[in-house]
Amino acid sequence: MAVERTEEVSGFYVVEGPLRIRISKGSVELTGKSLSTGDEAIIPYAKATLMEAQGEAEVKVRGGGSLTKLDRSTIPREWMDFVDSVSSRECTVFTLGYVDSGKTFFVTYTANKALRDGLKVSVVDCDIGQSDVGPPTTIGLGLLKEPVVFLEEVNAVSAYFVGSTSPAGHLLPMVVGTAKLVEEARRLGSLVLIDTPGMVYGGPARAYQLYTVEAVNPDLVVALQRNDELKHLTKQLKSLGFEVVELPASPWVKQRNRSDRRLLRERAFYNYFAKKGVVKQVFNLREASIVGSFLGSGCPASPEVLQAVEAVTNCKVEYCEISEDSAVLLLADRPRVREVYAKIRSCFTDKTVKLVHKGFYQGLVVGLLGVRGRFLDIGVLRELDLKEMRAVVETPLREIGEVKALKMGCVRLDDEYREVERLEPGYV
Ligand SMILES: Nc1ncnc2c1ncn2[C@@H]1O[C@H](COP(=O)(O)OP(=O)(O)OP(=O)(O)O)[C@@H](O)[C@H]1O
Ligand SMILES: [Mg+2]
Repeated sequence: MAVERTEEVSGFYVVEGPLRIRISKGSVELTGKSLSTGDEAIIPYAKATLMEAQGEAEVKVRGGGSLTKLDRSTIPREWMDFVDSVSSRECTVFTLGYVDSGKTFFVTYTANKALRDGLKVSVVDCDIGQSDVGPPTTIGLGLLKEPVVFLEEVNAVSAYFVGSTSPAGHLLPMVVGTAKLVEEARRLGSLVLIDTPGMVYGGPARAYQLYTVEAVNPDLVVALQRNDELKHLTKQLKSLGFEVVELPASPWVKQRNRSDRRLLRERAFYNYFAKKGVVKQVFNLREASIVGSFLGSGCPASPEVLQAVEAVTNCKVEYCEISEDSAVLLLADRPRVREVYAKIRSCFTDKTVKLVHKGFYQGLVVGLLGVRGRFLDIGVLRELDLKEMRAVVETPLREIGEVKALKMGCVRLDDEYREVERLEPGYV
């Protein structure tokens, strides 16, 4: 068990996790949240934040992380002026920034200060990989009840299932989901802060950012930049008449490498499923249909078609489903794909052909949706019996009566909820 150490503190510190901090004398601010004697905070692994001691204070710390004294705050003066200007307004702020520019910290800090000033504050978290608000693979909407050190402490009041842990190739659901949740946040009558992924370079990234801003129509776009790294976007946004506030990016950010990011993503799934507790729910696919994939969009092929396909391919076909523009075939064994695919294509020349083996869908993350696509929860598909029209999904959702659809995602998890595969967009 880690030893607790006592530190006399004054001025500014960067605190890096994993660390548990208990205030034993005086008061401090963490990410702009005030904590006084007796209060505690947890700084998770691979995360960090700013601690400012109010005068002389004493803290007890435990864990492998660190406390580093600074000679000044990591919050630029321009941020404080910005926070003062928005914390009396019910407006929508779209936060733009490159990877590791401190977007999430900025949003959390601004939210805490606005909350202190009496505003109702909601956050739309568009990061679907490390998702702070709501489960991974979703865009989350959180309403802050109290200040937080990290956004992950905020519970989601609503979410939108994108189905992947990376926005690349999923831009339509990213834009639609953000727009829907911002609309919902506005109905709550609050300052709406939108936290975005750091995807800013290249055609898809440009399209994502510009069309999301257009769909959301924010009152302000905040561009957090070190130099002019967002100019290609801000220039266009200004031309379109959006109000862009350019602020310096965080002068200090805890950099995370690929493996840290992967670990955070893995932890996010584990935290969600294991900590919330899951149950195995059995769905009748005649009542809750599969959506978001070619599978589920057609009707089972006739025995004649099935026989014809088996004769051409020399493979046992477990299930075959045909729609106007697609044919989905589930083969009993793993086929030598290229050969079989060519043969099957010759049977369905006018259709998109999806060829998978039995068991392929197992482990995929699914969104459990209610009427009009209302998000209810996510789950992991553990069994899929298409002949019996039955699916078994492991999910924290206890009451499944409202589930109208199972939306197929493209992330596969193992039994410990580790991401083991991300299918190409459109693969399912
Ligand atoms: N000004 C700051 N002072 C102290 N810690 C900070 C500051 N800015 C960011 N951090 C910390 O550094 C880490 C990375 O910052 P943050 O998550 O805000 O970046 P981001 O731009 O949102 O990253 P991503 O592109 O992955 O979404 C976080 O743990 C955050 O709390
Ligand atoms: Mg972020």
